[in-house]
Amino acid sequence: MTKELRPLVAGNWKMHGRMASIAEVDFLKDQLARHDGVRCDVMICPPAPYIAAMAHATRGSRILVGGQDCSERPDGAHTGDISAPMLADAGCEAVIVGHSERRTDHGETDDLVRLKAEAAHFAGLTAIICVGETQEQHDDGTTHDVLERQLTGSVPEGAEAMNTVIAYEPVWAIGSGCTPTVEEVAAAHALMRGLLIERFGAEGKGMRLLYGGSVKPANAAELMAVENVDGALVGGASLKGPDFWGIIEAYLG
Ligand code: PGA
Repeated sequence: MTKELRPLVAGNWKMHGRMASIAEVDFLKDQLARHDGVRCDVMICPPAPYIAAMAHATRGSRILVGGQDCSERPDGAHTGDISAPMLADAGCEAVIVGHSERRTDHGETDDLVRLKAEAAHFAGLTAIICVGETQEQHDDGTTHDVLERQLTGSVPEGAEAMNTVIAYEPVWAIGSGCTPTVEEVAAAHALMRGLLIERFGAEGKGMRLLYGGSVKPANAAELMAVENVDGALVGGASLKGPDFWGIIEAYLG
């Protein structure tokens, strides 16, 4: 499937796995080496303690490494926090910010997510900024209002195509096995594209828009074929090499 923008398939391991799980990338490395022509970026975002080991294991391959969150501050007395420069230093190219689990579990607001994205940019990382409506908002028909509010509040002023990726993840679709209809995904992504172009011009046109929420090998091709869907943010199905590869395969040929 040929897309206008180079697709990105990013795996979010969340709080899963152990050091031994890093071996899952061996399968991906083999497959990517065999499919030299795949026009697709592949990224894994492991839990923070495993980032350096993942960066080591993927060195020389086409697999990129990302963090799952960062502090809005660069350094200092903030026990337990991890800064964007530290992620870059450990081998990350990107960091997810504003995932709905962080917004819910840690009360992260759009303002905080925007500061985190700015910190990521300042450290030379790509910010993968997550947005998405809850089940209630979906049922109320306010999805587009929510997306507009979250995009306006969470994407920083200086965002560029090279350093910003938006992930549309309906909260109700995450880990549930449910996905929106292809029409709903198309409408959400068209709305986001329009808002980003309005605000950032050509840069907004070049920002990749990922879909996330119960992406698996069986539905990847259908979701990835939707206009303005430039890749996927994958949770559960990224934990096992062959499952994750089954999603990347949507971009083969
Ligand atoms: P899921 O998670 O693929 O397990 O639904 C996606 C995400 O939360 O990024």
